[in-house]
Amino acid sequence: MPDELPRKKIVLDLDFFAPPEQPKPGRVHLMPVDATIDLEPGESIFDGAKRNGIAIPTVCGGKGTCGTCRVLFTLPAREPTILEKQFIDRGDLARGVRLACRSRPTADVAVTVLPERRSSRR
Ligand code: FES
Repeated sequence: MPDELPRKKIVLDLDFFAPPEQPKPGRVHLMPVDATIDLEPGESIFDGAKRNGIAIPTVCGGKGTCGTCRVLFTLPAREPTILEKQFIDRGDLARGVRLACRSRPTADVAVTVLPERRSSRR
């Protein structure tokens, strides 16, 4: 039988750790409607546009499962997510096409909402 070590009680004070700080969201200029919206912390372009009464094509309602909420970023666009690589072909990714519901910019950006088109899931 192994010698038992003395037990010590550890108290973790969760208030010691500051809550993770959300990065400050950016402003989004949406074309072709020519409107600028201020995003809330953690909000996607899709949700920000919807909150401001601007419709972006969708089938899934912003859940990231349809691939229809395509927007064109000015280059250089951010790195595509794994999901975006599944829904958007390489040529469009290189042109700066991304999904609005997966885009949470932390700087001011300008995007063009692209017309709805069938998803090209590979
Ligand atoms: S709204 Fe369906 S993938 Fe973005």
